[in-house]
Amino acid sequence: MKRVAILISGRGSNMTALVKAAKAENFPAEIVVVISNKGDAAGLENAKAAGIPTLVIESKSFGGDRAAFEAKLQSALDDNRIDLICLGGFMRLFTAEFVQRWHGRMLNIHPSLLPSFPGLDPHGQALRAGVKISGATVHFVIPETDAGPIIMQGAVSVRNDDTAETLAARVLEIEHRIYPDALRLVASGGTQLDGDICKTSANASPDDALISPEVI
Ligand code: GAR
Repeated sequence: MKRVAILISGRGSNMTALVKAAKAENFPAEIVVVISNKGDAAGLENAKAAGIPTLVIESKSFGGDRAAFEAKLQSALDDNRIDLICLGGFMRLFTAEFVQRWHGRMLNIHPSLLPSFPGLDPHGQALRAGVKISGATVHFVIPETDAGPIIMQGAVSVRNDDTAETLAARVLEIEHRIYPDALRLVASGGTQLDGDICKTSANASPDDALISPEVI
């Protein structure tokens, strides 16, 4: 059983999806603690309501001193004997040193089909690029933002009348499906890093074409 910490900064809907999935009897990971770098993160209440211990480590109070913030975070992770970290809308950049320490053991979710559209406003970026399919990616964290070995992706069609908000809502549903599945895969030993590539023991279903738009 892997011991997981989820790091959030806001709403925490992915955290809630992970917590819910991890309650299943045969889930290979346990959500041990939810840590926020913001005291007013809405997700903290949901974590508490689900009976998960929470912790606030205010990054603001460390100013620009990332290393000091990370030292505090690391000691909380050590105290809880954490094996895996899941970032869920955690909006603070880590030093390369911290990322290296958690290499292959820290997951993130980003609402685009990486390597397209990393960073801010991924849905606006997708709409401006005119892609017909978008989605979400769960990946291992590397020092570069929203990059790293891809564990799992889920896709949705982009509609002609989509706005960043409507697209975000459909992609979020996908996020809530793939993040628990990706954590299950990693925690059960179903992934292996081969340089920049994450090999997985699971495979795509044989009938897996998503074509958009549909010509009738
Ligand atoms: C999610 O859409 C997640 O993919 C995104 O922030 C949102 C957090 O929502 N993450 C990033 O953009 C990372 N670059 P949540 O707090 O409800 O899980």
